[in-house]
This record gives sequence, C-alpha cells and structure tokens, in this order.
Amino acid sequence: MCGIVGYTGPREAGPILMEGLRRLEYRGYDSAGIALVDDQGDLFVEKRAGKLSNLATAIAERTPHAAVGLAHTRWATHGRPSDVNAHPQVDCTGRITVIHNGIIENFQELRDGLEARGHRLLSETDTEAIAHLIEEAYDGDIAEAARKTLQQLEGAYALAVMHRDENDRLVGARKDVPLVVGLGEGESFLASDVAAILAHTRRVIFLEEGDVADLRPEGVTITDVQGRPVERVPETIEWTVEAAEKGGYDTFMLKEIHEQPLALRQSITGRITRAGRIEVPELEPVWGAVRTATRVELVACGTASYAAMIGAAAIQSVTGLPARVTVGSEFRYDPPPLDEHTLVIAVTQSGETADTIAPTRLARERGCPIIAVTNTVGSAITREADAVLFLQAGPEMAVAASKTFVTQVTTLVILAAGLAKLRGTLSSGDESQLVEALRALPAGAERALELNEHVAAGLARRYVNSRGFMFVGRGPTYPAALEGALKLKEISYVHAEGYPAGELKHGPISLLDAEYPLVAVATRSPTYDKLISNVMEGRARDARVIAVGTEGDDGLGRIADDVCWVPDTHELLSPVLSIIPLQLFAYHVALERGTDVDQPRNLAKSVTVE
Ligand code: M6R
Repeated sequence: MCGIVGYTGPREAGPILMEGLRRLEYRGYDSAGIALVDDQGDLFVEKRAGKLSNLATAIAERTPHAAVGLAHTRWATHGRPSDVNAHPQVDCTGRITVIHNGIIENFQELRDGLEARGHRLLSETDTEAIAHLIEEAYDGDIAEAARKTLQQLEGAYALAVMHRDENDRLVGARKDVPLVVGLGEGESFLASDVAAILAHTRRVIFLEEGDVADLRPEGVTITDVQGRPVERVPETIEWTVEAAEKGGYDTFMLKEIHEQPLALRQSITGRITRAGRIEVPELEPVWGAVRTATRVELVACGTASYAAMIGAAAIQSVTGLPARVTVGSEFRYDPPPLDEHTLVIAVTQSGETADTIAPTRLARERGCPIIAVTNTVGSAITREADAVLFLQAGPEMAVAASKTFVTQVTTLVILAAGLAKLRGTLSSGDESQLVEALRALPAGAERALELNEHVAAGLARRYVNSRGFMFVGRGPTYPAALEGALKLKEISYVHAEGYPAGELKHGPISLLDAEYPLVAVATRSPTYDKLISNVMEGRARDARVIAVGTEGDDGLGRIADDVCWVPDTHELLSPVLSIIPLQLFAYHVALERGTDVDQPRNLAKSVTVE
C-alpha cells in the first residue's frame, strides 16, 4: 500500500517528510516523491522511481526551506512505476499537488472529461485526474475545492492536497483507506499510518469515513464532504514505532489478515459497473483469443495454485471450457498440449516466482494467449502476459499469504465471469447473483474476522498439542482445506494434510484418532451431505472435529466438536470466507508454539529460483 506524510508548522518540512517516508518503507513501494512550498511561495516537486534513496539523492543539496509539504511512497495500481507516475501529481497551473492512496474507480471517465475540457494529463495515474478536478473547483479555498472534487470520485482513497498560494495549509480526506492526523505543538501532521509521525507526536485523530481534515499549524478542523463540521476526539498512541508499522498488530500476518475486507473492496473496485454488471476491461488485448479458445490451463505455485483451483472450477462452470491447474514446477517439464487455442492463466502474487514464470514463457513460445493474475505492477510475469489483472490487495509483507489468497480467488471468479461474458455463456441472472455476492464479500470478511477471539482463546489452545491435522473439503471447499493445511504447516511447523474428504477412506483415515483432529471445511455446497458422511467416518475413529460452517447450519453444530461460523455466500466465493478462521487458527497455533510467524524458517516471500 502507498504511504502518505504531510507537515505544516514552523520547522523545516523537507527532513520531517523524508524521515516519515523512511518510516513507511516497510509497507513496500516502487517510487517516491515530495512537494514543498518554499519561503518564496514557489512549489518544489521531485519524484523518482525506485528506492527512496533515489529521491534523497535527487533533492540533496537543493531541498528548499519550506514549512509545508507532502510526500508519498507509491505502490503502483494504475500505470507502471516511473518518475512521471509517482506522486505528487500536479494540476495544469502548477499550483495544486495531490498524493493519494487507493483506487479511483471512475478515473477513465474523469480523465476523458478533463482532456475534453482542455487539461493536459501527463501521467497514466488515476490520481492526476484529482489534481485537475481540484483546479477546476478552486476558488481561493483549497478545502472547499477538495470537498467539491470528492463528490465526483468513486472508489477508495486517502488523499492529501496542497495549494501553493495557501502556504500553511494541507487538506486530507478519507474513504475506505486509512488516514491519520497528528496534532503537535504549533504544528500538524498527516499520515497514512502513525509510524510516519510517531517521532513527533503521539496525539492523533484517526479520520473516519467521509472526513475531510483542514490542517494548519495551529490546529485542525474536520468536516464531512458537504462542509458540515464533525467532532473527532484525539487519542494518545502508546505504540512503539515497531508496533505502529504493524498498525498496532503484533505481526504483519495478523495485520494482513485483518486487512482482507479492504483488500477485497479494492480488488472488486472498478470491476462492477454502476448498473451491477461485471466488467473486465483488462481482457481487451485477448478478446479474440478468448472467443476461440478451446481449453484453459492455469499455472501457479503454493497458495496461488489453490486459488487457481477455484479459478479453474469457476471458469469451467461458467464458460463450459475444460480448465485445469498444474503447479509450475510440473508444468515446466511435462507441459500439456499447448497451441494458440489454449488460454494460459498464470497466477502469482509476487509476479516473480521462477516456477510460474518459466512455464508461462514456454506457453508463450508455443503461441498461447496469456493472462496474468498478480499483485505486483511491473513484475516479471506482466512482461510475459498479453493481459494482466492486478489483485489490488496492497503489498503483503508476511511470508504466509493471506490477503492475496482471498483476492486471487475473487479476481479469478471475476475473470471467469469476464471470459464467460465474452463467450456469451453467462446468463444475466447468474451475473446478478455473482455481483450481489461480490458486493457482500468485504462485509462477510469483516464478520468472519470477529472469530479471532474465539479461535485464539478457544480452538488454538485446545488443539495446539495435537499430533497433526487432517483438513478436508469437497468441491469448492477442497482448495480451502488445502490452503488451511498449508497455512498451519508453514507457520506453526505442525504437520497438516489437505485431502478431498472422499479420499479419507482410501488411506489417510488410518492417521485419525483422538490426538489427530479432522478440520472440515463444511460450508454450504452441492456436496455438503457427502462431506458430512466423510466427517462421520472420521468421528467413528475418535477424531475430534473442527468445522467451518455456514451460519444457520444447526445440524453441523451437533456433529462437530467446534464450529467457526461464516456468512453464506456464492458457492464459488465460499473459500474467501471459510479460509479466514483457518488463517486465524494457523496464526494462533503458531503463537502458542512460539514460532516466527512473519518469517517462518526455511521460507522466502518470493521464490525466484527453481
Ligand atoms: O508469489 P507467488 O504467488 O507466485 O508465490 C507462490 C508461493 O510461493 C506462495 O503462494 C507460497 O505458497 C506462500 N508463501 C504460502 O503462504
């Protein structure tokens, strides 16, 4: 996720802002920039792709004296990482600067309108449109112009805005993306998270949805977008800098698990129209190939391969095309038949996994159209693909994937619908059902996260000493079982198997006893009854049963020893919600066992070697 820092007060803004950006480096970024209004009232803007040190070198020896400024680390969502796409973005007059975290959904429409009205936009970003809209709305009051502009924006944002001619003033606004105001003695700060400003103040206001903050050195006023004043009570932060980097959570993994509702919102953003239709404009370069495809091959590794299994099931069910997943390391040396009618979909959060890139390259050489699904703009996989869908989940720091799994599943289901629409195989009724489920997904994830205490205080302690765990599912719940088992083994070092429940009786059932629990992903699905029969077979061998079930399924409560209830959703999206208690279970078992959750032994976040 991008980082925001802003300052207005009596001190030199430049060093405060650069230090703030350093504190935000942990969030991941691909470019950085700074804007300062100097003592003469001139605007100084410098931006650099790459590391913060590139920006530091560019401004060394020439940072102007300034008492107000904004700075940003960008993690690309629209437009590749480059100097010009880095923030701050500036309007035509060179007076207004904007930095932005999040995604503006209607950015294309806004950019087109601005260009038609004579504005010259230099970057490929959604953010630049905001600077020009504020320019149009500006009439001597930057807060008022920002509020007018916000009413035209659709999507998610945390914004910071500055006008050259109002050189002690900053404006911040938030919708769905966090933004915090820092209150100092005769100085005010703005930041995407408190880590950036903790060295200067511990008195902060966490802005709420729709808040617009008007910052001056002597204080801050907050209104809604209509300009009506709102009261926000400052709080005092006790966190250490290290805790602040993790948003107050003990680990990045726990933070990222809790970021899932936001990540889902961002993933869905821009892919459902106002009229409630699914739209995947990224597919345009492969329209023809999608229409003539006869098969779909998905390639991925680890967590991404489990998400890809759900993607394959979704594609097969909505397009009727045969679709299957092969893990990258197998595909590479034993590829399926590949030709120009084989649509290949590479799924990789990092976009740098060698075992996924090599088979994709091979498929490309054989003439296959390639679609990449990745979280990382500018990554290697994007150069191999004809079309790219970004997860828009924000950077993931913990080695164990969490928010990128749920956004991979969601993006792949959206992709499946996009392919089906191109091939004319998605009825409008089915599309509406999917849209309804997608829209409800972030709130469903929020509800599933309420299980945290139940899992921490109950399940994890009760089962931590088990000899091993057998995770089972059937149909769409089977990949969730595989992912649940992978989470547990990779961070807690406890043995866990993932199996299709019907296979238990063909061997693994011999492992089960009172010390070897069965973890059943038993959310609503067409094979639910069959799964329950398999669970009963396990119970008959004394296995304790931990289940993830759909709220309202009283029968499951009578069969299982412990149940984590999650909201009902579309069958294809059910792993997005059922995985959340399993992530929490893995996490709390690992804590009980005292392992390093964020950096488990023997593992790397991005596996760039074969
Ligand atoms: O970056 P990728 O999605 O290509 O990574 C693939 C796997 O290495 C990755 O999903 C791995 O399994 C995760 N660490 C699991 O949590």
